[in-house]
Amino acid sequence: MTSLTDIPREAEVRRLIAVHADMPGGLMPLLHAIQDTCGFVPPDAVPLIAKGMNLSRAEVHGVITYYHHFRSTPPGRHVVHICRAEACRSCGSEALMQHAQAVMGCAEHTTRADGVVTLESAYCLGLCASAPSVQIDDRVHARMTPAKLDKLLKQLEVSP
Ligand code: FES
Repeated sequence: MTSLTDIPREAEVRRLIAVHADMPGGLMPLLHAIQDTCGFVPPDAVPLIAKGMNLSRAEVHGVITYYHHFRSTPPGRHVVHICRAEACRSCGSEALMQHAQAVMGCAEHTTRADGVVTLESAYCLGLCASAPSVQIDDRVHARMTPAKLDKLLKQLEVSP
């Protein structure tokens, strides 16, 4: 489901808008809260957000599309983030990203057709001293290698 037709979801989005409406600079925390709650920012929430935050739809849409963090479609059952910031990049994260794309069968910032997994880039997961880092769902893993990633993906039944 990629819309607000789910009534509990719409009620929650409306509640979050009300919480953030009077907050200076409240749009970013609101979008984070919606994505944390729904897993993505439903496209039909944009008019509600715009109205509630006294912004144009174009402004809201612009922020959502500018930041790669925000998704407009639901994520897969598992979300894999490969850190591509400087420390991880210098320790092989680009090769790790290519490996992940090949093994998972989906490109960066997409969800595999079967809906099992979404692959994203991250820009620092806070484990720079133990780079490269990968986050799978809520857990961050340090000193990642292609072999370790394969093992973790197999445990989650993400590997084809
Ligand atoms: S740069 Fe990757 S964890 Fe900080």
